[in-house]
Amino acid sequence: MARGKKIYEGKAKILYEGPEPGTIIQYFKDDATAFNAEKRDVIDGKGALNNRLSEYFMLGLNQIGVPTHFLKRLNMREQLVRSCEIIPLEIIVRNFAAGSMSKRLGIEEGTQLPRPIVEYCYKDDALGDPLVTEEHIAAFGWASQQDMDDILGLALRVNDYLSGVMYGVGIKLIDFKIEIGRVYEGDFQRLVVADEISPDSCRLWDIETGQKLDKDVFRRDLGSLTDAYAEVARRLGLIPKNNGVTKPTLIN
Ligand code: TMP
Ligand code: ASP
Repeated sequence: MARGKKIYEGKAKILYEGPEPGTIIQYFKDDATAFNAEKRDVIDGKGALNNRLSEYFMLGLNQIGVPTHFLKRLNMREQLVRSCEIIPLEIIVRNFAAGSMSKRLGIEEGTQLPRPIVEYCYKDDALGDPLVTEEHIAAFGWASQQDMDDILGLALRVNDYLSGVMYGVGIKLIDFKIEIGRVYEGDFQRLVVADEISPDSCRLWDIETGQKLDKDVFRRDLGSLTDAYAEVARRLGLIPKNNGVTKPTLIN
């Protein structure tokens, strides 16, 4: 499919104008960054795995009635999505303490939380995506009260879906981050899950062994990132079980 002009290049993806008005082609790069891009590398195969995994999760969400921007995967690295206005928030849902929450509150990583906890960060690389409260969001007009009610509903539905899918393949969903976009349909607007859902934006631990199968493998130098992501894809049936570990072949 013909790509249009480049619209935006981020740390892990490039967006191009799509073939029809209101569509965008999302290209998954092999670049990995952490700690606000202080640590970076190019990891052969990461883009293709995230493209396929994000397709899988977005399609599943669409099928259970959680709206997403996803339209279809085009090839190994690209997917067609609906263009939307991204709300400048990272929405984080946590089921078990880890990462910045463990550091901030002194809770041991892996401790189950009394209930899923939703946090909001303001999307601004120069500021390092700071944690904000609903007071900041309302006062600065980043989202309305109605938006926040809808965002919370979407975030918790994504949490239930992803936790269930992962549990089914022996993986614990520790936490994840999503982004939400606004799409306009005539006089109406609605919110959809946008960006990507992949092991770049989740924490995934093997239920039996606690092995990390997400971007912490890169952040903390724990081994091969593509082996970890390929293991998630393999368990979900996106890579044949008997495929060698070195070069995963994605199933169409
Ligand atoms: P944190 O513990 O570092 O705040 O991360 C919480 C979750 O959000 C974790 O699943 C990783 C994800 N995340 C992103 O997707 N992008 C980011 O820039 C950061 C900091 C975290
Ligand atoms: N994606 C963010 C960055 O580059 C942070 C992270 O995922 O740890 O730097």
